[in-house]
Parts: sequence; structure tokens; C-alpha cells
Amino acid sequence: MTRIDRNAVEVHGIVKHYGETKALDGVDLAVREGTVLGLLGPNGAGKTTLVRVLSTLIKPDAGTAFVGGYDVLRQPKQLRRTIGLTGQYASVDEALSGYENLYLIGRLLDLSAKDAKARAFELLERFSLTDAAKRPAKGYSGGMRRRLDLAASMIGRPKVLYLDEPTTGLDPRTRNEVWDEVQRMVGEGSTVLLTTQYMEEAEQLADELTVIDKGRVIAGGGIQELKTQVGGQSLQVRPTRPAELPEMARSLQEAGIPATFSEESGLLSVHLTDEGQLTTVIGVLGTRGFGVAGIDTKLPSLDEVFLTITGKSSVPAQARDKEPVA
Ligand SMILES: Nc1ncnc2c1ncn2[C@@H]1O[C@H](COP(=O)(O)OP(=O)(O)OP(=O)(O)O)[C@@H](O)[C@H]1O
Ligand SMILES: [Mg+2]
Repeated sequence: MTRIDRNAVEVHGIVKHYGETKALDGVDLAVREGTVLGLLGPNGAGKTTLVRVLSTLIKPDAGTAFVGGYDVLRQPKQLRRTIGLTGQYASVDEALSGYENLYLIGRLLDLSAKDAKARAFELLERFSLTDAAKRPAKGYSGGMRRRLDLAASMIGRPKVLYLDEPTTGLDPRTRNEVWDEVQRMVGEGSTVLLTTQYMEEAEQLADELTVIDKGRVIAGGGIQELKTQVGGQSLQVRPTRPAELPEMARSLQEAGIPATFSEESGLLSVHLTDEGQLTTVIGVLGTRGFGVAGIDTKLPSLDEVFLTITGKSSVPAQARDKEPVA
């Protein structure tokens, strides 16, 4: 067995073409054990195709990938025992009740009858499905199916969990439940590969992000890192004496730091292009005796990052992330 050090998922040069369509065109990525990787990309970027390759549901045309140290091509059986998958499209058995769906999966995963029953009830409870537990899933709403699907993927406490747009179509309360559950799984040691169109979701859950478009990785890294790469930081200074704004800006300009100010907001703004500038700004303002009541640094939102990188906005308005303040 090929054990890959500390990376629960490793993808090397995966290619998958459908005729002329390059669904995946040489993708490399890694997910560190016990972390959440957010896989972002516009519609048709190749996210679901990658999840399918990593679940052994389809074979890549080229490249290699390991999950939990198992090779997708050579060790598919072991690999499948390592993973849980919530696909983009629901996969519950419509004729069975919520409870039966979960119980059967538990049994398929070799849990004893008693454990399968207990686990099914536990997950039904966690996903607010207890009341509907005995009803056939065909009568469930979209959100309920989604929750049942998620519960199903968590039955075996998989080491690696793939969540392909897990909260699309869920109301905010249910979305929060799903987020809590994912965080709990990660807290228990699971590794998660999460595809999402919601930047807020990525911001909440992901430790690192990989952005793909047209089957290729176009950016990656930590959330703050990506924001910094794309937009740089903007430093906002609130003076104790707003009348001094023009003078403060002039002093900074003399020190070689482009600064602007707005009388209306009462703020001095400096676009920081490297980290050392923050120290310089504070130094200049201090030595010249300007009073500072507060400072803030602002990063671009993840929406802006996504838009800049892919040239497309993929985010529904209700999921817009709040401006973080560093
Ligand atoms: N079975 C298939 N046959 C033909 N083309 C396919 C097939 N599966 C995916 N594709 C194509 O591959 C590309 C990537 O699709 P994929 O479903 O992986 O994108 P995605 O990033 O998951 O998109 P979305 O955000 O819409 O779910 C698309 O152009 C899609 O039409
Ligand atoms: Mg998809």
C-alpha cells in the first residue's frame, strides 16, 4: 500500500475528456489530513467530474490519485471503504423510509443490526428528520432528501468525505445544520473535499481553496492568501482629529506612500502592496504627532476574488460574504 504522508487526498495530473470537452485537463491538488479543501469553480469547471474520479465512479484518461493512501485505479475497493460521498444529485432509495435508507447503508458498511439502528436514529436526529423517519423518501421535500443524503454519507464515519454542493437548495437553518455537522466530522478527524458555489460556505468551512476552471487549477491557497494575492489590502485609518486628514495624507505621500482620504467618511486610505508598509504608515503618523483613533485592514471579499480569478460571478446574492476585517 502506498501511504502518502499527511495528505488524505492527492491528485496528480488527472485528465478526463468527454469527446471535445476537457472536463479535467491535468488537475493537481492535495487535501491535508483533517482539513477541509474548498473546490470552487463556475458551472462546468469539472468539480463533479473530479469527485467522481476520486470516488472511483469513473476512470481518468490519465494521471494518478490517492485517497487515504489508496490508488484510485489500483485499489478501488479499499478506497471506497475510506470515503463517504454526497453527490450533487440525491441518491436515496425513494421507496424506502429515511430510517430504512440509513439502516441499510449501515448494514452494508458492516455495522451490526444494533449499531446500524442506533447510528440511523442518531443521524436522523442530527439532521432534523426524526419526525419523517418512517415515511417513504419519495414524499420528502428537496431539502429533506438532501439531509438524508448527507446523513447517509456520514454513517460509516468516513475518513474522507466528499461533499458536492452539499447545501445547494437548502434553507439557511438547514445549511447551518449541515455546516455544524461537517465541522463536527472534521473535529472527529475526517478530511473533507467540498465543492460549493457559496463563498460564504467556503469561508465558513474551508481551510484551503482550490479554484478550477475549464478542467484546470487556476488558483489555490488559504482564503486570506487568495484575497491578498488578488486585491492587496486596504488600510483604513480613522484620525482623532478629522481636520488633519489632508495633512496626514500629505505626510504619507512625502514618505513615498500613496494615501487618499475622504472627508465624508473621515477615513484615510492606503492601498498596501507589501506588509512592511503598515509599519511605515504607523511610524510616519506617530512621529508627526497625528492622533489615530482606529485602524482597519480590509481584504477583498471572496466573491471579488472569485470574480477576478475566473471572470465569472457564481454567487447567489443571499450567500454573499460579509467584508471581513483583519
Ligand atoms: N458524462 C458526461 N458526458 C459528457 N460530458 C460530460 C459528462 N460529465 C461531465 N461532462 C462535461 O464536463 C464538464 C465538467 O462537468 P462537471 O459536471 O464536472 O462540472 P461542475 O464543475 O461540477 O459544474 P456544476 O457547477 O454545474 O456542477 C462540463 O462541460 C460537462 O458538460
Ligand atoms: Mg457539479
